[in-house]
Amino acid sequence: MNIAVIGLGYVDLPLALQFARAGAAVIGLDIDPAKVASLNSGRSYIKHISDADIASALATSRFSASTDFSLIRTIEALNHHGKPLKGSKILVIGLAYKADVDDERESPSYYLMDLLAKYGAEVSYYDPYIPVIKPTREHSHWAGTKSVTWDVPTISSFDACIISTAHKVINWVELARWSGCIIDTRNAMGGVKTAPNQVWKS
Ligand SMILES: NC(=O)c1ccc[n+]([C@@H]2O[C@H](COP(=O)([O-])OP(=O)(O)OC[C@H]3O[C@@H](n4cnc5c(N)ncnc54)[C@H](O)[C@@H]3O)[C@@H](O)[C@H]2O)c1
Repeated sequence: MNIAVIGLGYVDLPLALQFARAGAAVIGLDIDPAKVASLNSGRSYIKHISDADIASALATSRFSASTDFSLIRTIEALNHHGKPLKGSKILVIGLAYKADVDDERESPSYYLMDLLAKYGAEVSYYDPYIPVIKPTREHSHWAGTKSVTWDVPTISSFDACIISTAHKVINWVELARWSGCIIDTRNAMGGVKTAPNQVWKS
């Protein structure tokens, strides 16, 4: 069972850890990056929860914390189209850590791709600046993966496209024509004419 817990404060963090202990895969989402960083490095900020409690939950890989709400937005968008995340073909658009550069080191897109893959999605990426992922220590499992091509048959074959990095050279009007399900984390589709329930802001 996969569970998302929104908020990781006094009430929700113990709840999230309890779900993970019971065997669920839990993603904890919070808007506070300091709390998320603390949890992911095994440190508690709540008196009655020890660092060891956090560390053991992390060690099972059944618990992780994030400020990135795009995963549950993607699940919501797919659900609207009658599809589960597991087995869906998902395209992450933009691998670079920020727009208009070719540097993907420490990019949040990797984190998103890992999460999507962990929950059973078939993950690809498109980035005109990064044709192939070079080997790195942190993301060695993605090394050699190639960017998909930007054309109608390819882009329209995905169940959902997530805009993670909004390079200016990407043609958002084409994306609106080619994809029926777009999760927009960068407001890239803001000025583009789209249909109701086609774009999901995150
Ligand atoms: N603490 C209690 O004993 C208690 C008892 C009954 C009810 N409640 C209710 O439970 C809720 C949580 O209480 P708490 O004590 O855990 O609070 P808390 O302040 O310890 O934790 C709330 C967490 O939610 C995060 N957050 C705020 N807005 C968010 C958003 N939009 N998306 C994601 N995360 C967000 C905050 O960063 C914080 O980490 C509150 O509504 C509170 O009134 C608390």
